[in-house]
Amino acid sequence: MAAERGDRLTGKRVLVTGASGIGAAAAGRCRAEGARVFVADKDPASVDALRAALPGVEGASGDLADEARACSVVAHAVEALGGLDVLVNVAGLSGRRYGDGPVHRASADGWDAVMWSNVRSTYLMCRFGLAPMLQQRSGAIVNTGSVLAYAPNAAHFATHAYAASKGAIHALTRSMAAAYADQGVRVNAVAPGLIATPMSARAQADPEVLAYVRERQPLRGTAGAPSDVANAILYLASDEASFVTGVILEVAGGWSVAR
Ligand SMILES: NC(=O)c1ccc[n+]([C@@H]2O[C@H](COP(=O)([O-])OP(=O)(O)OC[C@H]3O[C@@H](n4cnc5c(N)ncnc54)[C@H](O)[C@@H]3O)[C@@H](O)[C@H]2O)c1
Repeated sequence: MAAERGDRLTGKRVLVTGASGIGAAAAGRCRAEGARVFVADKDPASVDALRAALPGVEGASGDLADEARACSVVAHAVEALGGLDVLVNVAGLSGRRYGDGPVHRASADGWDAVMWSNVRSTYLMCRFGLAPMLQQRSGAIVNTGSVLAYAPNAAHFATHAYAASKGAIHALTRSMAAAYADQGVRVNAVAPGLIATPMSARAQADPEVLAYVRERQPLRGTAGAPSDVANAILYLASDEASFVTGVILEVAGGWSVAR
């Protein structure tokens, strides 16, 4: 995990959803910067593996789009951490295997599966995570969107429910930022491009996608690393961003400005 150590989150109590890929990197980065960290994921094996890799990190498993489960996970995290200062919502999925695709071929079940896992989980975690933050009149929430919400590509990334789910997360982020700014709670999001994680395995193995990414992510010409996104999450979670809210921070090597 992150070798770099610092004190940018010392004393902060951080709940990260998603114990694989970007979520694992974010949890490691937050811990390395002095935070107490709790991770949650629907896959118990991912939670166990991350806790083994990051001693001191606590965790729970469950589908965070399930209302009762999301509520109990936040309660468990608040109890384990002694409160909550930062909520990082990374958990989400690509719905291709559930039937997502271009609208004329996407199934209603695929649509529901993606909206369930991506939008409903983010909404529920925000709803339950906000309670302690509003009470203490301080907190930071970082959600995870995607460049595909506003800079699509029909040839290689035609999963329209996924794009719509990420657009919903961007809108939720900005609406919440507006609503809670005067109560001391900041709400921002990261919008990653193609990042090398288990979720993007298909894209990473496709030479045509990789050729496209060389053009679309010109800063590096390859997929980004989970640590690239974790660094942006760290900034938005930390007090360095104390005057920043309602931002969708693209972390994509130049995706939306590339030719
Ligand atoms: N990898 C990319 O190229 C990329 C690009 C843009 C955005 N993103 C977003 O980044 C986030 C993390 O993706 P990743 O690449 O690290 O993928 P990943 O598959 O490695 O990790 C996602 C994790 O979320 C968990 N999860 C999914 N739905 C859940 C639910 N309802 N409840 C609890 N846990 C759930 C999964 O079990 C998995 O461990 C996702 O929101 C994804 O949409 C990824």
